[in-house]
Amino acid sequence: MRILLIGSTGMLGSDCREVLSEDYEIIAPERKELDIISWDRVIETLQEVNPDIILNCAGFSNVDACETEPFKVRKVNVEGPRNLAQGAARFKCKLVHISTDYVFNGKKNVPQPYFEDDATDPLSAYGKSKMDSEVGVRENAPDYAIVRTSWLYGRNGANFIHSILTNALGKKMKPLKIINDQFGSPTWTLTVARQIKELLKRDAKGTFHATSEGHCTWFDFTKIIFKKLKIKVPLEPMSMADYPYVAKRPVNCILENRLLKKQGLNLMPEWQKDIKAYLSKFGSDLVKRAKAKSL
Ligand SMILES: NC(=O)c1ccc[n+]([C@@H]2O[C@H](COP(=O)([O-])OP(=O)(O)OC[C@H]3O[C@@H](n4cnc5c(N)ncnc54)[C@H](OP(=O)(O)O)[C@@H]3O)[C@@H](O)[C@H]2O)c1
Repeated sequence: MRILLIGSTGMLGSDCREVLSEDYEIIAPERKELDIISWDRVIETLQEVNPDIILNCAGFSNVDACETEPFKVRKVNVEGPRNLAQGAARFKCKLVHISTDYVFNGKKNVPQPYFEDDATDPLSAYGKSKMDSEVGVRENAPDYAIVRTSWLYGRNGANFIHSILTNALGKKMKPLKIINDQFGSPTWTLTVARQIKELLKRDAKGTFHATSEGHCTWFDFTKIIFKKLKIKVPLEPMSMADYPYVAKRPVNCILENRLLKKQGLNLMPEWQKDIKAYLSKFGSDLVKRAKAKSL
């Protein structure tokens, strides 16, 4: 089976490439070869590659930048996936598309989780674009799986762990303020890639939540990371309201993997287990990189 993987240079895409190449032939054009906002390039690529599956890990995922770049966010996050969905229909292949917890408004009381069929009501331009991307996929692709995940960290790409380490190690023991009133499930991209492989193996269809089990705040998450990496920089909890975010964010980002569990497909472990495994593998490298960056 052949997969056309889009977004393979990104955080999730690079882990999908690694995990899926064990069992599939992967064709992974970079953005300069296939820009998904071009309908013509999507069709030409599908003609050339003739894939069984399109896996779309591409996206404009900088939540704050999406507020100030409305044209780009609509093109990349809405028109791009719609092009892929229409292409998937024309070339009779399955489309797997990645979405987010930010399609919800986060107003449920913590720790009540969001289920796959809860009403979407995004608070940000990013969340709205991802909600619209889902609609475009459902309306156009006859065979699709939408995977909503959240709070991703991975080996590559910009993510929370990389930024707090750079901040902490450049601050010379100055306290670091971390948000303690947004709740979610930090999720390793490598595990999401394995979950996607399982979905493909079982030819699963529909909209799935795929996040680590359990939840925490960014403050709790940082405490575990610093403990494991023996970083002594003091931490202070802060409120999301006091952080200079441009985009509004949901308070409750907790997703329940209800459909994965119902279909016996859930591979997602507790978030603490994955972050420990991730730090055992990459921790010392991350610290070295962060120190070099903050010099
Ligand atoms: N990061 C999170 O915490 C998070 C949480 C929930 C859901 N998600 C979703 O998960 C998916 C992957 O996120 P990520 O964090 O791995 O993203 P990422 O690291 O920013 O990677 C995005 C990828 O998309 C490619 N891309 C961007 N615009 C493109 C275009 N017009 N045509 C083709 N490729 C394009 C990028 O290519 P270049 O390298 O050339 O720019 C890059 O390979 C996205 O759909 C995102 O919305 C992310």
